[in-house]
Amino acid sequence: MSVSAMDIIVNKVEKSRINQLDPNNIQFGKLYADHMLVAHYENGEWKQAEIVPFDNLSLSPATTFMHYGQAIFEGVKAYKDQDGNPVIFRPYDNWKRMNRSAERMAMPDVPEELFVEGMRQLVELDKAWIPTGDGTSLYIRPFMIATDEFIGVKPAEKFTFLIITSPAGPYYSKPVSIYVQDKYVRAFPGGIGFTKAAGNYGASMYPTMKIREMGYDQILWTDGYEHKYVQEIGTMNVFFVIGDKVITPNTGETILEGVTRDSVITVLRDKGIIVEERPISIDEIVAAYKAGELKEAFGTGTAASISHIAELTYHDNKMVLPNVEQAEISEWVKKELNDIRYGRKEDKHGWIVKA
Ligand SMILES: Cc1ncc(COP(=O)(O)O)c(C=O)c1O
Repeated sequence: MSVSAMDIIVNKVEKSRINQLDPNNIQFGKLYADHMLVAHYENGEWKQAEIVPFDNLSLSPATTFMHYGQAIFEGVKAYKDQDGNPVIFRPYDNWKRMNRSAERMAMPDVPEELFVEGMRQLVELDKAWIPTGDGTSLYIRPFMIATDEFIGVKPAEKFTFLIITSPAGPYYSKPVSIYVQDKYVRAFPGGIGFTKAAGNYGASMYPTMKIREMGYDQILWTDGYEHKYVQEIGTMNVFFVIGDKVITPNTGETILEGVTRDSVITVLRDKGIIVEERPISIDEIVAAYKAGELKEAFGTGTAASISHIAELTYHDNKMVLPNVEQAEISEWVKKELNDIRYGRKEDKHGWIVKA
């Protein structure tokens, strides 16, 4: 199906709710912009997409995704550039990842036009909801659910794709305290770790709750065979600065291919910094720490952008890292990416898409 700009039916709200938005107190994920995009898939094809007022969905209690978890999502951000125009950061990369998730979860491909053009039109329509100011954005949540009204276990035949958006305030990501997890597992080879399937997040809730009770913020997952190689953190990919090199686990089947991860690797390499994408064991990290070589560790993701790791605990090893002012590489990367997102620096890689 081709969804040209003309093909999306737009049904606007009678009255905007924008006055509910307090620009000085934006709480992430609490308030949604006026409109949402909805498209249904049935009989092997996507039907007419519509942009409609944000509202509740009406679904049968037998709707299949509620029982068997055929549900995937994405996370993207829109910003206002220096002239106040809405721009979206790397939506094509999220579109490609959405379809990698869709394939693994036996869900239909979302056409590029539906994902990117639909998102552009939605953001353009609700651009008043994009906050201004450094660190602010409009968070965009595309997602797809299986909507057969059938509680037998089988791949569904009906699906719904939606996009909702929510203003996000300035993200002052506080340095995080990380627990290296070697009991619970997030992802195995052959599993769904590389996807943004809802079940990956559901499975992480209990281990996360447990480490929060112990006073940590987030889990650094290790591989499921040996609990030896580190994978990723909560909703972030992970980077370590060891000596003068930056090292991040290679993605493969068990780690989400983060768009921020790729952006970080690209700008670091542009600057001539060596970045290695390879398996990295927790033993190597502990040894580097003991030798005084572990300079920085940070997480990368759309929500937090760059999150400085203050401490990393593995068994009896509590590794306390230099504070954020000394984290030269991650602070530089954070500024560089923000400069590109807000149009203060040239977008050499074609990451910015006008809404
Ligand atoms: C499990 C996981 N890893 C990493 C990331 C970072 O990915 P991105 O930079 O595309 O937001 C996310 C967030 O989407 C995530 O949920």
